[in-house]
Amino acid sequence: MPQPPPAIAPEFPKVALGEILENRSIARWTHVLKVHAPTVAPAIQPGQFVNIRTSDSLVPLLRRPMSVHRVIRDGDTPTGFAVLFDVVGPGTRALATLTKGRRLDFVGPLGNAVTIPAGTKRAVLVAGGVGVGPIKIVAEELQRRGVRDITVCYGARDFEHVVPAEDVCPHGCRLLVATDDGSVGRKGRVTSHIEDLLATGRLTPETYVFACGPVPMFQALQSLLGPKGVRVEAATEEFMGCGFGVCFGCTLRVKEDDGRTGYRLCCADGCIFPLDRLVFEGHPHGAHA
Ligand SMILES: Cc1cc2nc3c(=O)[nH]c(=O)nc-3n(C[C@H](O)[C@H](O)[C@H](O)COP(=O)(O)OP(=O)(O)OC[C@H]3O[C@@H](n4cnc5c(N)ncnc54)[C@H](O)[C@@H]3O)c2cc1C
Ligand code: FES
Repeated sequence: MPQPPPAIAPEFPKVALGEILENRSIARWTHVLKVHAPTVAPAIQPGQFVNIRTSDSLVPLLRRPMSVHRVIRDGDTPTGFAVLFDVVGPGTRALATLTKGRRLDFVGPLGNAVTIPAGTKRAVLVAGGVGVGPIKIVAEELQRRGVRDITVCYGARDFEHVVPAEDVCPHGCRLLVATDDGSVGRKGRVTSHIEDLLATGRLTPETYVFACGPVPMFQALQSLLGPKGVRVEAATEEFMGCGFGVCFGCTLRVKEDDGRTGYRLCCADGCIFPLDRLVFEGHPHGAHA
C-alpha cells in the first residue's frame, strides 16, 4: 500500500553566506580560500565539506563541493573556514577570481566526519593530488586529541602541483612526499611510502588511517592494507549535483554485510566510508577502467 507523504518536510541544509577573507595562490594551480562564516564554523567537523556557488551567473549552474581544509578561529572561537582547491574547470576558475570582501554563497557543513577511535596513538594520513584538502583539519583534530605520532604521505604529479608543507599539515607531523617525476620528494607513487611504513612496522592494524585522493590510489591502498588488517577511512569525491541526497547523482557501490553489492550516496552517507567497503570495479576513474 502506498505510504502517505510525511507530515513534515525533511529539513535540507540551508544556504549560508560568508565573506571572503583571503584567496591565496599557494602553487601554480592551487588556491586556499578563507571565508568568514561565524554562524557555520562552530558546526564544522573534520572530514566534512561545503558546496559552493562559484559564480553569480547561471554558469556553472551547480555548486562545487570542497572539503573543509581548516577551521579558522579567533582564540578558541571558530569564526570561519578555509578550502584548498585546484583550478581544473569553470567552477574553480571562477572561484579563483573571487577577492577579499566578496560574499560567498555556500551550503554546509555537509557529509559525515572522521571517527578517530579513542586511544589512538599513531596515525597515517594519505593524500593524492588535491585530496590533500582535508588532511590538515584531520591532523589538527588528531593533535587536539593528543596523538603525537602522525605521518602524512602526500603524492602529487610534479613540483607545480605540490603545495607547501605548511598547507599540507600542521607542525609536528612527519611529511613524506612523492611525485610522479621525482621533482619533489621520492619519485613514484604515494603508496611506496605506505609500503615502507608497513615494512618498518610503523603502520599496523592499531594505526588510524585516513585517505583522500583518486580512485586508483584507493584501489592501491585496498590491495596493500586490506590483507594486513589495517582499516582506512576514505574521503571519496564523486561528482555531485545537489550535495544533500536528493538528485542521486553521487552514487557509490559498497559491499554490504552479507557480501552483496549495495549503493550509497557520497554526499549524504559519506563522503567518508570504510575503504574496505568500497567497490571500485568498473568505476569510471578506476585503475582498470
Ligand atoms: C566531497 C567532495 C570534496 C571535494 N573536495 C575538493 C577539494 O577540497 N579541493 C578541490 O580542488 N576539489 C575538491 N573536490 C572536487 C571538486 O568539487 C571538482 O573538481 C569540481 O567539479 C571542480 O569544478 P570545476 O567546474 O572547476 O571543474 P569541472 O568542469 O567540474 O571538472 C573539471 C575536470 O575535473 C574532473 N572532475 C570533476 N569532479 C571530479 C571528481 N569528483 N572526480 C574526478 N574527476 C572530477 C572532470 O571530469 C573534468 O575533467 C571535491 C569533490 C567532492 C565530491
Ligand atoms: S549530490 Fe545529489 S544525491 Fe548526492
